Amino acid sequence: MRRSRPSSTERLLVQQGLSSVEYQGSSTIGSGGDGMAIQGFTQEEFERTLNEYVSPSSPIESFEHLVGRQKQLEKIEEAIISPGRHIFIYGDRGAGKTSLARTAAYKHHPAHGEPVYTACGRGTSFASIVRDIVSQLDQRSELRSIDRTLTAGGKALGLEGSYSELEKAKSVENLDLNAATAAVNEAALRRQGRSIIVVDEFENLPTIDDRHLFAELIKQLSDRRVPVSMVFCGIGKSLDSLLQGHNSAHRYLEEIALPAPPLTFTGCWEIVDSASGALGLKIEDTPRLRIAQISDGFPHYVHLICQKLCWRAFRDSEVVHELTSEFYMDAIRDALSSVESRLRSAYDQATKKDRDSYEEVLWAVADHFELQRNNRRIYDESYMRIMEDVQRKPLDFTTFQSHLTSLRSSRHGAILEMPRRGWVQFSENLIRGYVRLVAESKGVRLALEHEPGPEPKALTAAARSQGVHPAYQGRRYTWGSGR
Ligand SMILES: Nc1ncnc2c1ncn2[C@@H]1O[C@H](COP(=O)(O)OP(=O)(O)OP(=O)(O)O)[C@@H](O)[C@H]1O
Ligand SMILES: [Mg+2]
Repeated sequence: MRRSRPSSTERLLVQQGLSSVEYQGSSTIGSGGDGMAIQGFTQEEFERTLNEYVSPSSPIESFEHLVGRQKQLEKIEEAIISPGRHIFIYGDRGAGKTSLARTAAYKHHPAHGEPVYTACGRGTSFASIVRDIVSQLDQRSELRSIDRTLTAGGKALGLEGSYSELEKAKSVENLDLNAATAAVNEAALRRQGRSIIVVDEFENLPTIDDRHLFAELIKQLSDRRVPVSMVFCGIGKSLDSLLQGHNSAHRYLEEIALPAPPLTFTGCWEIVDSASGALGLKIEDTPRLRIAQISDGFPHYVHLICQKLCWRAFRDSEVVHELTSEFYMDAIRDALSSVESRLRSAYDQATKKDRDSYEEVLWAVADHFELQRNNRRIYDESYMRIMEDVQRKPLDFTTFQSHLTSLRSSRHGAILEMPRRGWVQFSENLIRGYVRLVAESKGVRLALEHEPGPEPKALTAAARSQGVHPAYQGRRYTWGSGR
């Protein structure tokens, strides 16, 4: 286990000739009850270190904190240095698209200036996004100050001082492809080197025509060798679903499909181990394994649980050296209350009609690493075990199936969908982690398909078909204080 670097206070004490024993006995650091239970860290240092390693709500921008994306970064790197090639990153909500795009953009952008970053929203259009890009490339926030040597492209964007507000609005509305290409070209040529432009949340672009215009823009930028690399990000299962049938841009695009689940166990553990290591803490095997199992590969949950776990340790009344199962159970409850409200509402809508029975059906669907699963197997392998855990009478299979059907209806928020007859999956994979988190907070353990232990080891098919791993059989919630 990595030791924490000495804190600035620690270094100061050493400079002042105080021994580590005197230092440990100090009433201000590592003394537990005062809310600073991690040895060597003042609150300020703790927060700084934690924020450096753990970011549940903001994308990663630096290479050293982006885990499990080596292959994708290499593909992006090759595309960036290949003239006329652009990039499209797609995958599940929360899979890490923005983090990958921003990290790559910062890594490969020339030393001067910043990469351009813009995001689509309901109120945006092709014209407004291009306008934003050109304005950022110019690095001028006040459009009025833009020099008057702009050509037709710039003028069409309304990027000229003499344009009235009305004229600007009109020209942005009517911006055509040639004018957009010319404007991006002009602005890019005024910068040194190849500019990287990230266009995020492409799925929010409301009209199909605007999406097609972007596909055309990519072609134009490539054909005219404009010195920019565009990096698009969007939620989707395929590039086709995002470009909505516009195929001609495909050969200009490097497609980066993020995997589902987005991170492996090893990736999840890299986040956990580097955060705990930076704080000089060990973590017990069981909570370490459970974080990876609960998170379902979604880095947001790994960061969130890890953040809450470290805060629990920091606020403990004793000096803490190890993150234990007890801290973990508290962290799970803390994490649950911090999860974005959109997920909570989706869960509530799905289960509110008859919380008891729907909740357990939903838990059963989220129990396994396979994203699509056969109804019968969900019932036999997961549902029956869960009902035994909660010591309640199970529904019969027919009623169970009709619950699954209801969970696909709009009354239940269509939380599930049917990929083929007799099978179900979550309509959004990110929700699976939330469902697991709720079950965990109530003492019901899902996703036990890996052996407990320090390294990942998937259960064999035979073990899986027998349901829960023997290590967990007959064990109900026994961790922590049992609350
Ligand atoms: N490769 C990674 N390694 C470590 N953490 C990651 C990685 N990718 C993403 N994260 C973390 O996961 C969370 C979600 O990442 P990000 O915002 O990049 O996902 P996204 O796919 O863009 O989400 P959305 O679909 O909501 O736009 C963030 O907290 C981010 O810090
Ligand atoms: Mg994003």
